[in-house]
Amino acid sequence: MTMPNQKAIPQAQGDFLLGNLRQFKADLFQAICGWQRDYGDLVSIKLATRQVYLISHPQLLEQALIKQHDVFVKMYNPEKPKGLALILGQGLVTSQGDLWRRQRHLMQPAFQRSNLASMLPQMVMAGNNMLSRWQQLGENVEVDLANEMMRLALEVITQTMFSTSVLDKVEKIAPALETALRYAAKTAANPLAPPLIIPTPANQQFKQARKLLDEIIYDLIEQRRMQPHTQHDLLATLLNAHNEDSGERMTDQQIRDEVITIFTAGHETTANLLSWTLYLLAKHPEILSKLRAELTQSLQGKIPDTEDLQSLVYMPAILNESLRIRPPVGMMIRKVNKDTELDGYLLKGGSLAIFSIYNIHHHPELWQHPEQFNPDRFLTDDKHRFSFIPFGTGERVCIGNHFALMEAQLLLSMIVQQYDIQLLNKEEVEIEMTVSIRPKGGIPVRLIKR
Ligand code: HEM
Repeated sequence: MTMPNQKAIPQAQGDFLLGNLRQFKADLFQAICGWQRDYGDLVSIKLATRQVYLISHPQLLEQALIKQHDVFVKMYNPEKPKGLALILGQGLVTSQGDLWRRQRHLMQPAFQRSNLASMLPQMVMAGNNMLSRWQQLGENVEVDLANEMMRLALEVITQTMFSTSVLDKVEKIAPALETALRYAAKTAANPLAPPLIIPTPANQQFKQARKLLDEIIYDLIEQRRMQPHTQHDLLATLLNAHNEDSGERMTDQQIRDEVITIFTAGHETTANLLSWTLYLLAKHPEILSKLRAELTQSLQGKIPDTEDLQSLVYMPAILNESLRIRPPVGMMIRKVNKDTELDGYLLKGGSLAIFSIYNIHHHPELWQHPEQFNPDRFLTDDKHRFSFIPFGTGERVCIGNHFALMEAQLLLSMIVQQYDIQLLNKEEVEIEMTVSIRPKGGIPVRLIKR
């Protein structure tokens, strides 16, 4: 039913039966940029039978995720999990309603600024371990920066949240996670994806990857159960939580879901932030010099403590600009749970909405020279409400935002004070988008000790 004053949403041109599914599957990143470029900030796409709206403007995002957060909901369906829920189950990223609210309330204190300071020593240790490994690798060694940052962030998240290390299994974890995330992104909105019980090669590969991750997570939980009361970390909070009235505890499945959620959301993202930032700094030596001058002035060569970190000004501007131009999470997906209106447009209940963080961060009406890496734009007082949303917004805003920024500031300052990072390839590193935005094919670099 269309009201007389309702505006028509442009429909992206596609195939007769499959709609835009082919483009969606072939290159998600190009498709999402292209649809905005060709049709504007709200465009309707069809993935076979599925109706999807692509939203690329802060005003529309605010109207949806803030003012109508009860209409634009996460799409978890316990009977038919899809997308990220296939890996994360009902953890904090994917759950909704009362379960989500209860778990968020339980886990929030671990991520408060006051508690984060206590995690700095573990982060420093992880950083130092990597730097000494680099030293041992020899002079001017060549490595894949993306791989190095993945290892580093993995060590940080497991040490701070679960007081353990899984670095010895990193060679298996990284590819398994990559396979799983790619599968999740490709099947999330695709109604034609064969259900998991059908043994297609892609399904088999995904199940194998998930099994490997599961084994690591269950092992980590089991090890702690054998030594309870030794640590006061997030894992302890999850294991000890019980309902005040009934005494009821979390099921093993729920604990698994929360652990794998923090494990995944907490390292893949920060690793990408670190990789892209070091890459951008290598491309912009003048910005790197300014950063080093700030670090020399405020740290005089030492490793920063939380107070030092708070005194930095240029470093956060660099990180913000990196988060803008290469947002580690490229989009947010919601289900529209009933017919509703956004800015005079009718959106149909039952459809999906994709909010493109990447498109908003590159919108030519909101950012001058959007493709230019220019940290100075974050030094002025301009407020970028809803046009700068690397951590999402509203009640589902990232729980780990302060954690991630503290970690990134600390590790970047440790790395750039000790190493020059030289890019081995002249060509731009391309973007691969699953839900996260990764450097396609990694970032080959040479490490030169300063
Ligand atoms: C640069 C690093 C990070 C970025 C860019 C990032 C980005 C995001 C974004 C955009 C969302 C919102 C998703 C949505 O609304 O659909 C989100 C949610 C979330 N993030 Fe992060 N994140 C980062 C680091 C972390 C870290 C370090 C952790 C944990 C230690 C974490 C845990 C979570 C969780 C649990 C949620 C779901 C929150 C909820 O729905 O209540 N993230 N993140």
